[in-house]
Amino acid sequence: MSLLKGKIVFLTGGAAGIGKACANAYLKAGASVSIMDSDEVAMKDLKTEFDSTALLTFVGNVCSEHDIKRALESTFGTFGKIDVIHNNAGIASPSKTLDQTNEEEWDNLFIVNLKSVFWTTKHGIEYLKQTKGCILNTSSMVGEMGQDNHAAYVATKGGMNALTKAMALDYAPFGIRVNAVCPAGVLTPMLRKWMVEQPNPVEIEDYLNNIHALGYCPEGDVIADVAVFLISDLARFVTGNLMPVSGGAELGYKR
Ligand SMILES: NC(=O)c1ccc[n+]([C@@H]2O[C@H](COP(=O)([O-])OP(=O)(O)OC[C@H]3O[C@@H](n4cnc5c(N)ncnc54)[C@H](O)[C@@H]3O)[C@@H](O)[C@H]2O)c1
Repeated sequence: MSLLKGKIVFLTGGAAGIGKACANAYLKAGASVSIMDSDEVAMKDLKTEFDSTALLTFVGNVCSEHDIKRALESTFGTFGKIDVIHNNAGIASPSKTLDQTNEEEWDNLFIVNLKSVFWTTKHGIEYLKQTKGCILNTSSMVGEMGQDNHAAYVATKGGMNALTKAMALDYAPFGIRVNAVCPAGVLTPMLRKWMVEQPNPVEIEDYLNNIHALGYCPEGDVIADVAVFLISDLARFVTGNLMPVSGGAELGYKR
């Protein structure tokens, strides 16, 4: 499959979980991928595992304007263009109600999950104007539906969904599409960490399988396959879309 042949993708949080699955799928679909992630060890392992000349890696923090600017400039310097910015890096903890959340936790969630999109857009949009490229945001169904005990996280994803639509309108005149993928649960290091923190991890596994109408909690490959479609030319008339990749988790009450 060469749906992404010749495309240059800048991806944040690509060293693990959903981002890693996306990086793998993008490379397989023929793209060159530039990953920025703060986990130095995971990035080293990733380079060895993927062993691809089409992969560029930057250890950096999406909270830092400087890191993002530098990584985007180097990506452009190496490949000569950028077709896609995929804002994927995110955090979900702590699991708390709003009143239990402290200011530092609130700020951290908003900076990592949302302000990072501000920086990648500020420093990346001119590159995308040159290629009539696209932006993909890894959001979440909780930004549409809500989730207990994660108020600040849910607010970041609601913000990301709203931002996806606003940006889609603003950048459509430049031929730039902006979409979001919205998973429900995905078995990644982030979710596995949350699972072991729960009082009854076995019950939680059943719960995670059952919230998806299709009956199981997937791994990142299901998100990656949809992401390949959304950043490919097959989706050339799709913009402002919040695409559930959720096994029907949002469809309604069920036993
Ligand atoms: N796993 C799920 O069930 C689920 C569901 C819905 C949405 N999401 C969203 O998917 C995205 C990826 O989640 P995941 O489950 O793969 O998480 P993960 O923790 O398994 O992987 C996230 C990656 O992002 C990197 N990262 C985190 N903070 C960073 C920072 N400040 N700067 C640079 N890199 C950073 C991490 O090092 C890691 O490699 C997140 O935006 C998350 O909110 C996940």
